Amino acid sequence: MSDLSAIQKRIEELRQKLNYHNYRYYVLDSPEISDEEYDNAMRELKQLEKQHLQFLTPDSPTQRVGATPLEAFGVVEHPLPLLSLGNAFVTEDLFAWHTRTLKLLGVEQFDMVCEHKMDGLAIALTYVNGQFTTGATRGDGFRGENITQNLRTIRSIPLSVSKDAPSRFEVRGEVYLPKVGFRKLNKEREEEGLPLFANPRNAAAGSVRQLDPRITVKRPLDIYIYMLGYAEGKAVPSTHWETMEYLRSLGFKINPNNKRVNRIEEAEAYYQTWTQKRESLPYEADGVVVKTDLLEYHNFLGDVGREPRWAIAYKFPAIQGTTRLKEIGISVGRTGTLNPYAILEPVQIGGVTIERAALHNEDDIRRKDIRESDWVYIQRAGDVIPDVVGPIVSKRTGKEKEFSLLEKIYDKEKSRPVCPVCGGEVVKPEGEVMYYCSNAACPAQVQGRIELFVSRGAMDIRGIGERLIALFLRKGFVKDASDLYTLYKEHGKLVNLEKLGEKSADNILKAIEKSKKQSLPRLINALGIRHVGEETANLLVEHFKNLDELGSASREKLMTVPSIGPKIADSIVAFFHEERNKEILKKLREADVWPEQVTLKAENLPLSGQEFVVTGTLKAFSREIAHEKIKALGGTVKDNVTKNTAYLVVGEDPGENKIIRAHALGTEQLNEEKFIAILGQKN
Ligand code: IVH
Repeated sequence: MSDLSAIQKRIEELRQKLNYHNYRYYVLDSPEISDEEYDNAMRELKQLEKQHLQFLTPDSPTQRVGATPLEAFGVVEHPLPLLSLGNAFVTEDLFAWHTRTLKLLGVEQFDMVCEHKMDGLAIALTYVNGQFTTGATRGDGFRGENITQNLRTIRSIPLSVSKDAPSRFEVRGEVYLPKVGFRKLNKEREEEGLPLFANPRNAAAGSVRQLDPRITVKRPLDIYIYMLGYAEGKAVPSTHWETMEYLRSLGFKINPNNKRVNRIEEAEAYYQTWTQKRESLPYEADGVVVKTDLLEYHNFLGDVGREPRWAIAYKFPAIQGTTRLKEIGISVGRTGTLNPYAILEPVQIGGVTIERAALHNEDDIRRKDIRESDWVYIQRAGDVIPDVVGPIVSKRTGKEKEFSLLEKIYDKEKSRPVCPVCGGEVVKPEGEVMYYCSNAACPAQVQGRIELFVSRGAMDIRGIGERLIALFLRKGFVKDASDLYTLYKEHGKLVNLEKLGEKSADNILKAIEKSKKQSLPRLINALGIRHVGEETANLLVEHFKNLDELGSASREKLMTVPSIGPKIADSIVAFFHEERNKEILKKLREADVWPEQVTLKAENLPLSGQEFVVTGTLKAFSREIAHEKIKALGGTVKDNVTKNTAYLVVGEDPGENKIIRAHALGTEQLNEEKFIAILGQKN
């Protein structure tokens, strides 16, 4: 066997291995190998593909995120419209649907499949000759947005399926953000001062509709396929249940909680069971979908309006309760925001005692007309922080008090509103809905900033939490996060701190020491620059290799980074200009907490370091587009063939001199097909 075919074989092996373990991990949720082993195989494959670009294909597991940000999404026409579902709210509605369907079909009974109604975003995935080619949103049902690049980042979507699958088919499903991912995302957004997503569905929609797939890939989106849209070139099963089994066998993720039943009472029981257990699900479901199993019936029954007669959605009741709002409290966030929250008479909702609920901001409170002492509706969406929905006006006695944030924090002695924590000045920047404590030294803000600094996504200093930070601040051990690195000098005092002891103190100091090695994006995130969180930090380090470079970058320079607009750029510049921050940065540098980004991201791209020359006309796209595609993957483009040229791409009517030179220098020539394979994306 030649060397090349041995390499090709190894590449195939690695791809099979990675695809298999990817499937075990993301689809079956049951990994067989360690992350490390997986990462090693991925690294080896990337390396081999980089050295042998002729073997790079778009469905390689290395190619999930390849694309650069889009200007806008293209439009996809759905060959068959994506419909919605009729709703049932009470048992009678479900039974009525069943009776109606029996009559229409003229049968005594029929099989049904019960599924969870996932609260996410409907999408359609098209596969042609075994390859995932197009992913689209539902849009208006007839035309959706082309979000293929973003969907490719979802690991439970297979990029290719067996060649035995129908030559062209479309599956439909729901993309969703698991509850854990939703909480994490919102926490990060809060820290970045960004508006929060109201629920996992909005968060999922916001994530797949990101123009930059490099942001989507960081959101832990998942998918369940719930339907086969159409299939050509091969017979498919005749029931919905078997179709789902078949799709599962092709590698699609199908909800294991689906159940086939025969009597409507069983469907009702399925609904009751999950109404009780919905909280324990890792995702949000807003009801149960009951579908007739035989696909022939789907055709026969057809649709009314835009709702199929062959299925019905039986909605879960909202998790609501009522209680009295005793008082509106104000907390101070890391960025100084004054956040009103409801202090409630404790109430049990869905088995959980609730004493506090979010009120967002003053405008929101006014809009909903929520007053202190009101009886209010409280809504829990899964286990997300409960919300005050609104007042029960009929229960008002006249003693309720309208809320005014400024009045609440008014200091009679000073004759002005003050921060409820530090007594500092309060401001409301123009165009914002929030009030801020303007004293950066406010203990609540300092505490919040240090909490962010040590948090998991930042410097990840284990063993230091809210309580200990408060203690350190109170004892004067630290004034800001950078002081953590001189804590070792206080070893004696640390050991004697409340309930700490020698061992814990040592462990904490070790964790602090270890954090000095954290990467640059983590440190940037840890600094708490407004509007700059994990995602933005990762983008920044593609262009700035340390804090010196970032700190001296101008607004204009910052704005050349994709996804960075004037708001973020201004906030970064302002951060590095502030004296207090200069002091912190100085101390971090002294403590040797000054990471360098060793490999700029561009070097990790599949075509990094490869020089291309394109000659002649290409069929698939113009030469300009070809150049852009090469550059987007990290390659460079030159006009003439030299000894540095890695590839000469040869279209129709090529320049003769270029071909001759390539021959003379032994430069590899690529026809259009091979070139497209290397690009890893055919469009
Ligand atoms: S079947 C003809 N199954 O609900 C429509 N839909 O109101 C067939 N949904 O936008 C849809 N979970 O995205 C089906 N297990 C499930 C579902 C489900 C969630 C969504 C779907 C659609 C909406 C319809």
